[in-house]
Amino acid sequence: MQTTTLKNDSDDPAVLIDNLSFRYDSRKVLDGLSLQVPKGISFGLLGANGAGKTTLIRLLVGLLKPKLGNIRLLGQKPSRKTAYLIGYMPQLHSLYSELSVIQNVDFFARIYRMNDGAERKQRIEEVLKIADMWAHSDDAIVNLSGGMKQRVSLACAIVHNPPLLFLDEPTVGLDPELRASFWDYFSELTKQGTTLIISSHTMDDAAHCDCLAFMRDGKIIAQGTPLELKQSTGHDDATLEDAFLFFVRSGKGKINV
Ligand SMILES: Nc1ncnc2c1ncn2[C@@H]1O[C@H](COP(=O)(O)OP(=O)(O)O)[C@@H](O)[C@H]1O
Ligand SMILES: [Mg+2]
Repeated sequence: MQTTTLKNDSDDPAVLIDNLSFRYDSRKVLDGLSLQVPKGISFGLLGANGAGKTTLIRLLVGLLKPKLGNIRLLGQKPSRKTAYLIGYMPQLHSLYSELSVIQNVDFFARIYRMNDGAERKQRIEEVLKIADMWAHSDDAIVNLSGGMKQRVSLACAIVHNPPLLFLDEPTVGLDPELRASFWDYFSELTKQGTTLIISSHTMDDAAHCDCLAFMRDGKIIAQGTPLELKQSTGHDDATLEDAFLFFVRSGKGKINV
C-alpha cells in the first residue's frame, strides 16, 4: 500500500501551518493562522459555526489553495504525493447515493491505488466491520440513516490506512452510543500512531482530544491540552466551555498555554 512509502519516521510534525490566511473573494476567513500538530495525537479544532474550521481542513487536504502562508504535512508540501497520506471525512458526506455501501468503499480504495485485489477486498471487509456496517454491505446509500452514512464515510476515509486523518465534524448527529464508539476507535488509531485532526463545535468532543485549538473568526485564540486550557482560567472547577469563553472574552489573541 502507498502508506509504506512514507517519510513518516522523521521528527517532522504531522501538520505544520505557518501564517496561513484565506479569503473567499473579498471576505477574509482565515487570518494569519499558525499551528503545529505532533504525530500520533488527536487534535481538535474547536469553534462555532463560521469560525473557519471547514475552510482550514479543506486547505489542509488540498481542496483549496492557500493565498498566503505555508502548509507542511509530515514534512512535505501538499501535493499529489501527500494526497495518499491523507484520509478525509468531509462535513457533508461525499458518498454515491445510488451505489451500495461496499461499492462506495471499493471506489475510494481504488482512488487511493489499492491495486492488489485480494488485499483491497480484505481491507474493505475490515473497515466495514470496524464501522459496524458489514451486515449492510449491499445496501444502497440512499436507504441508510444519517448515522450509518457517517459510518460508511469514516470507512471510506480510513480504507487506505492513512497516517493523517482529517475528520470534519465526524460526530454531528450521532447518538451517544455511536459517538462513544467513534471516540473509542479514534483513540485506538492514535495509539497505532495515526494523527487525527478533528473539527467540532461541541465540548463533549473537545474533552476527548489530546490537544485543542480554540478557533474564532478565522483565528486560533488558544491552544493546549484540555486540562491546560481549563487551568488557564484560574478556576479549579472550570469546564472547557468556561475556558473557551475565558479566551474569547480575554481577547488577547493567540495564547499557547
Ligand atoms: N464557498 C464559500 N464562499 C464564500 N464564503 C464561504 C464559503 N465557504 C464558507 N464561507 C464562509 O467562510 C466562513 C467560515 O466558514 P467555514 O470554514 O465553513 O466555518 P466552520 O466550518 O467553522 O463552520 C463563514 O463565514 C462562511 O460563511
Ligand atoms: Mg464546518
